[in-house]
Amino acid sequence: MKVLVIGNGGREHTLAWKLAQSARVQTVYVAPGNGGTALEGGLHNVPITEPDALADFAERERIALTVVGPEAPLAAGVVDQFRARGLRIFGPTQAAAQLESSKAFSKAFMKRHGIPTADYETFTDAAAAHAYVDAQGAPIVVKADGLAAGKGVVVATTLAEAHAAIDDMLGANPLGVQHNAGGARVVIESFMAGEEASFIVVSDGHHVQALATSQDHKRIGDGDTGPNTGGMGAYSPAPVVTPNVHARVMREIIQPTIAGMARDGIPFTGFLYAGLMIDAHGRPRTVEFNARLGDPETQVLLMRLKSDFFELLMHATDGTLDKASLEWDRRVALVVVMAAAGYPAAPRKGDVITGIPKPTAEAHVFHAGTTLDAQGRLLSSGGRVLGVAALGESVLEAQQRAYEFMRPIQFAGAQWRRDIGHRAIRQRP
Ligand code: GLY
Repeated sequence: MKVLVIGNGGREHTLAWKLAQSARVQTVYVAPGNGGTALEGGLHNVPITEPDALADFAERERIALTVVGPEAPLAAGVVDQFRARGLRIFGPTQAAAQLESSKAFSKAFMKRHGIPTADYETFTDAAAAHAYVDAQGAPIVVKADGLAAGKGVVVATTLAEAHAAIDDMLGANPLGVQHNAGGARVVIESFMAGEEASFIVVSDGHHVQALATSQDHKRIGDGDTGPNTGGMGAYSPAPVVTPNVHARVMREIIQPTIAGMARDGIPFTGFLYAGLMIDAHGRPRTVEFNARLGDPETQVLLMRLKSDFFELLMHATDGTLDKASLEWDRRVALVVVMAAAGYPAAPRKGDVITGIPKPTAEAHVFHAGTTLDAQGRLLSSGGRVLGVAALGESVLEAQQRAYEFMRPIQFAGAQWRRDIGHRAIRQRP
């Protein structure tokens, strides 16, 4: 069987790597892929990004299954286009992907179906939004309605920050938010205290299989300080998701969401990522939904997955996920992201990368922003450049192994956090 993975980041390198391990998979194409997918055995990059051209390729090459990595092609309707041509693809339709692509849609959905989340109001008028923030006080959360590559959420600790976020999101748009129909809109919601975790499931529209739990580190700096990024590291499992919290998340958030989407006539097929806030009493609430796998959560989840990933996604596209079962490595997986100089504000590209070690049974370097030049040199080409992932008997062992594996890797201006997993290490020494 031939498989196609759409995307070019660390998540897609990992997806392609895992799919290539299936006995039934002969070739994995990655469109457009990166330097890592160009170098990894069994993977082949194809320089295509347009949905029509991707569907032409899938038809021509008799691709058995296409898997979509990032949110942008989902929001653009790539799944609808493939399905209209009778091509098997795993991901949500454009309508279902609104759970991520429109914060206003997602909050209204949660309210309608009684799914626990923060109280909120939606605004298109800046004066009304400013007045609301003044009345509510800080801390408060301001979210752009449309996709913004992870930059559309401001957790404002002061009123001044909240007012500035409203002006940015409803005005000049320096964050480059992709506005939905009707123009710029913000969701303003109350601040939720607690610990965050990533809860990702696979759904065929009706049935659900939960993946292992994970947590990521969104801030650029050690001690979870500085600006937000796409994620500077992650680990799995997440100790904060105890068996009791897990059961509550499934019962109160995941199952009502899948059932609610089906009832609303837009069944959700794909990876559903609930970003959770878990309070001191173990009460989970939804911070946001993503309609895709997390990055870099995918790297740690698929390091731990022992089952055949291709078989799982074939079940998910056949509507028979209830027949699938998942087996996980009981060890901890941890990934440390190496980012480019200037990330997240203005990442520098074109730095030569050297020293990437060969994979072992316990450690693997997944590429994110890398490319091969005409001379075969590996260059940085994005904000997050590499993810160094490792397995260990404990969080500490996985952490030590990942940092040790990273040691020979060099590129000018590389920045990484030294404390990935610190919260889990504190909770479970
Ligand atoms: N790591 C966060 C995300 O994928 O959205």
